[in-house]
Amino acid sequence: LVLALWAVIGYLLGSIPSGIILARVMGLGNLREIGSGNIGATNVLRTGSKKAAALTLLFDAGKAIVAILLARFFAGDDAAQVAALAAFIGHCFPVWLGFKGGKGVATYFGIILVIAPISGLVACAIWLTTAAISRYSSLAALLTAGWTPLVMLYVQEGYAFYLGVTLGGLIYVRHWQNIQRLKRGEETKIGAK
Ligand code: G3P
Repeated sequence: LVLALWAVIGYLLGSIPSGIILARVMGLGNLREIGSGNIGATNVLRTGSKKAAALTLLFDAGKAIVAILLARFFAGDDAAQVAALAAFIGHCFPVWLGFKGGKGVATYFGIILVIAPISGLVACAIWLTTAAISRYSSLAALLTAGWTPLVMLYVQEGYAFYLGVTLGGLIYVRHWQNIQRLKRGEETKIGAK
């Protein structure tokens, strides 16, 4: 019952659509009608506001961090893992948006930086390197999601491995359209409208 409670709290925190709220509050328009239509920081950047994109990244990562730390403080490590997964699912499938949410990348980074910090830092490095070279946010996310579970095993943060595989798999599912666009050479680069 305690775990179910943290699943609900994690889900509700994760389901807060920071990108949509920030874009609206900052007068940048309806994210659904911009770029990919996604609610994440990459698409907020397509409004032209770096500040809004950075804030979206921080809030989408931060809501998962808050869920995990609260669960860990009040109910221990198992509850923290449950809250982490629930926050991710909340971000990708929020009840408020008819379950059509984001792709989970910022939330993923928040989760692994807290659950498996060394792997989290390596994951950031993989994302930044891929993004710097390719200029594709989605490709950077896909490579990060694929490699990070192996990093977790290697640096002996293996307790996080199953969470890493599960979240990584969900990131691939959520990026299905991006994968098709990458294959066709039609994916939008970072910063392009
Ligand atoms: O983090 C989401 C990113 O990987 C792709 O976003 O808007 O280009 O589909 P977008």
